[in-house]
Amino acid sequence: MRLLKTGAFVRQARSARICTSYTLAAQPVCPPSLQYSRSIPHSQTPATIRWSSTQTVTQPFPEQSVPPFREVDPSKTATQSSSPTSDDTAFKEHLQTIGKESKIVHESGKSGSLILGKPYLFDQTTNVPQSILDLVGRNLYDNPDHPLCITRKLIESCFPSPEFNHFIQADPVVSVHDNFDVLGFPKDHPGRSRTDTYYLNSSHLLRTHTSAHQHAAFKSLAPEDGSVTSGYTICADVYRRDSIDKSHFPIFHQMEGAKVWALDGDISQTRYNRMLSRTQKIATDLRNLPQTDFLVTEQNDNYHPETNPIQEEHDKKETVLLARHLKRSLEFLIESIFRAAQSASNQTTSGNAPIKARWIEAYFPFTSPSYEIEVEWNNTWLELLGCGIVQHPILNQAGLREHVGWAWGLGIERFAMLLFGIPDIRLFWSTDPRFLKQFSQGKITQFEPFSKFPACYKDIAFWIRSAPASSTPVNSNLGSSGVAAAAGGDATKASPAETQPAAFHENDIMEVVRDVAGSLAEDVTLVDEFVHPSSGRKSLCYRINYRSLERTLQNDEVNALHDEVGKRMVGLHGVELR
Ligand code: DAH
Repeated sequence: MRLLKTGAFVRQARSARICTSYTLAAQPVCPPSLQYSRSIPHSQTPATIRWSSTQTVTQPFPEQSVPPFREVDPSKTATQSSSPTSDDTAFKEHLQTIGKESKIVHESGKSGSLILGKPYLFDQTTNVPQSILDLVGRNLYDNPDHPLCITRKLIESCFPSPEFNHFIQADPVVSVHDNFDVLGFPKDHPGRSRTDTYYLNSSHLLRTHTSAHQHAAFKSLAPEDGSVTSGYTICADVYRRDSIDKSHFPIFHQMEGAKVWALDGDISQTRYNRMLSRTQKIATDLRNLPQTDFLVTEQNDNYHPETNPIQEEHDKKETVLLARHLKRSLEFLIESIFRAAQSASNQTTSGNAPIKARWIEAYFPFTSPSYEIEVEWNNTWLELLGCGIVQHPILNQAGLREHVGWAWGLGIERFAMLLFGIPDIRLFWSTDPRFLKQFSQGKITQFEPFSKFPACYKDIAFWIRSAPASSTPVNSNLGSSGVAAAAGGDATKASPAETQPAAFHENDIMEVVRDVAGSLAEDVTLVDEFVHPSSGRKSLCYRINYRSLERTLQNDEVNALHDEVGKRMVGLHGVELR
């Protein structure tokens, strides 16, 4: 959950939040690290995986302006950039001329960066550090021999073309509007805050989920004579400020999928009759889905009018069928993944307990009803993906006025860790041939650890500031330059409705550690917190676990890193070291 800020609750929340998602439903409690074992027990015969059926389209979506979602009043949107001055335009041209791809440039009181060839001018909302920009453009999901790409292909194979188009979207910069507004995110949704999201400036950010491309992808499905394509998947890298542990990295990869059905039959018929034919079509498609033996212990069609309602524009019977089609399609996906993992580890099925899965209700701004599926793994319910029936305005705005449909989203790393037995999320970013050489296109093989280098932990204890960060925070990538921030000049907020940020946010120390130690930081945990009985000041102590996956770290090197973390905490966040 992203609502909690500091203290013991943060630890509790972190351990419950392995698969970061925008659901507000109660989260399953998972262990802080995902140590997947080599096999996943189940009792079915291997599924046929249609590896060859996918073709991926790169960069499919032109830039476009997207109309607002029904709840959003554009006149109240505070995330538009202020109009550019000629200086700004000149600076952007300068960025293009010098061509320093993904490097933050500070010159003549202005800052900005060229990202995949496009210039962005920074302002007081900017909070993206150089260490994150350095990783933009790696496109791990597009390297055929990388576990993330192999996993993507396996997932795509469960949604075959030509019924589904498969998109990858290399440019991670999207507008605030596409990432949040068009999807119906409330103005005070915690995902919008600068503590959770990397802003390039008040109008653009590093996408926090592939749903930022939903509108464009739905547009690509807009009716075209004779098209048999009624669905899509999208794969992309996504960015979130987050905790540091073996299952969290500030850049991870998501996939998103959707399918729609149009009103069916002759246009001379009434809309109602065409809707009935559409419902029939969904029922037929449901019967034609591949069979699964997957054991779903909990599944019901009960919708809660308050918390998870059927949309007012939708017919109940049709929604029930749609939701079943959605669930069955995703059960097939999950079964395929788990079976592939099992055959990779050469497990025999006999004697293994069947996989237990359950559907639970969830909340996403862009679907209703919404669900999540959880699978029991090592006595823990793992949240694997979110999904639901697409909000009607989203389809309408994309030109799909006669359609209903479903959508889902998942984090690829979680599945890849499970499939390949990869114990630490940082490994996906490794350029070490001992890691990369282990995998090849179309094959699920178990990761063989090539090292166990020693960890070295160090504690950092500090007093936090007693007052909330001011509107000119110590934490600025910009110094005093830049234009007014998104939230009426309050640079600590990305939206005026955002609640006042706390004096200290745990993601701030995570960011500093990431920036200083990069992938040498394995884990950062709060180990102590204390409020002084007379002054009321609060002290926190974090334990930073330094470990390289590729070599033994020297003591002096770790000490230097740790000293730098302390200095930056003082300089950027105004803490007092103890
Ligand atoms: N965008 C969601 C997230 O990052 C995942 C998701 C959930 C995508 C439900 C969907 C969906 O398309 O229908 O948490």
